[in-house]
Amino acid sequence: MTSFRLPPCDDPVRPAEVPGIRIALDGRTVEGVDGQSIAGVILGSGILAWRTTSKNARPRGVFCGIGVCFDCLVEVNGARDVRACQRRARDGDVVTTQYDELPVRVRAAPFEEVPDDRA
Ligand code: FES
Repeated sequence: MTSFRLPPCDDPVRPAEVPGIRIALDGRTVEGVDGQSIAGVILGSGILAWRTTSKNARPRGVFCGIGVCFDCLVEVNGARDVRACQRRARDGDVVTTQYDELPVRVRAAPFEEVPDDRA
């Protein structure tokens, strides 16, 4: 399987033409087809990773593709934390990659030992 769209003329099934759409990804125009998810449009353009982890700046894009892992988060039309694999792309969407610092860690209360009185 490939993330790149097969041109209809090369597809043995000969599907009907699907209208094209354009989204803006960090100010750059990316083209896809109607019905694709935002992640599908981005992957179809050859971009495999569009955010980095907060801790070690590791690249992330689509991992599960079914809305479970939250690795594909983007900002869409000003709305943060949108899972790109779950959101259908609409013509004219403005998509921004997002990066967040980890929140300051709150130290948990020390574990209180409970005496073992079973003996
Ligand atoms: S790829 Fe896992 S939630 Fe989108």
